[in-house]
Amino acid sequence: MIFEQVANGGCQSYLVGCEDSCTAVLIDPEIHQIDRYHALASRDGLRIRYVIDTHTHADHFSATRTIARALDIPVVMHRDSPAPFVDLRLQDGDMLVVGKLRLRAIHTPGHTRDSMCLLVDDRLFTGDTLLIGGTGRTDLPTGDPNALYDSLFNGILQLDPALRVYPAHDYKQLGSSTIGAELANNPRLQKRDRAAFIEMMEHLDLSAPTHLTEALRTNMSGGKSVAQLLSEAAERVPFVSLQELNTRVAQPSDDLIVLDVRERDAYEAAHVPGAINLPRGQLELRVNQVLPDPTKRIVTICQLGKISTLAAATLRELGFLRASALDGGMAAWQEQGFETEVSE
Ligand SMILES: [Fe+2]
Repeated sequence: MIFEQVANGGCQSYLVGCEDSCTAVLIDPEIHQIDRYHALASRDGLRIRYVIDTHTHADHFSATRTIARALDIPVVMHRDSPAPFVDLRLQDGDMLVVGKLRLRAIHTPGHTRDSMCLLVDDRLFTGDTLLIGGTGRTDLPTGDPNALYDSLFNGILQLDPALRVYPAHDYKQLGSSTIGAELANNPRLQKRDRAAFIEMMEHLDLSAPTHLTEALRTNMSGGKSVAQLLSEAAERVPFVSLQELNTRVAQPSDDLIVLDVRERDAYEAAHVPGAINLPRGQLELRVNQVLPDPTKRIVTICQLGKISTLAAATLRELGFLRASALDGGMAAWQEQGFETEVSE
């Protein structure tokens, strides 16, 4: 077995491959690590055959759909997953065959209704059902402490105590554990009476994960996060540095348009000398009047350098092939002490 564990903050994902067939599965990939997964698979001589989410993640952005599209392979989840883009839905006891590897799905509802663990040889990928020194919480959508009790005590904790446990989250960088070690030491598993376990789970009083709304929205629909939308736009446009723009506005030229895409009041308060204003919200509406010459060089600018990237990408799509975005925004421009102009 070829095995790679990729940690990003507290999130853990796993590339598990068969050296004989050069095939692999990717478990719980996260959106910021996509290039790393592809690079690791190449380095290890593996072709990823399946991308799997152990459950609907509420706290980070799944990369399954993006990777599946790029590699033309199936997204795998449990049958109860609400995501419409899942290609292969597993039920308890189903196996994925990847070369010599056999991955058996064990349905473990509780953290979410669609949670499953994956058993491969001497390893158990537990998603958020069982963590090292913890369990998944049961207070988020479709969580159920009663179901988690069964999934743990009448489910995976009955497996071989020597099985290695690889969770989807590991905030203390412990790497892995075993079923036996968790039974002995995991504080959440010490309440073995059902009612006491449920009582404990119902009173953990945890704060909502950051990005809860956006993670659920994107993971359940296959839509994009705002960061993803921005980074995809950034891949399609060149940037101009603050210094470069400062040098160029000092030597005014008919060939350069500095396009401030903030709202009018922000523009009027302070803008780059010579900049013209076309708010992002009116871009498509007024582009033909404001920018009649598509051969001009355009540098877009906003407050923080994000919306200007979207504006430059839109302009390029519209045929302004010399549109670029400022690497930074008015905030950075002013921080550098560069000159500004006020509208009368
Ligand atoms: Fe989770």
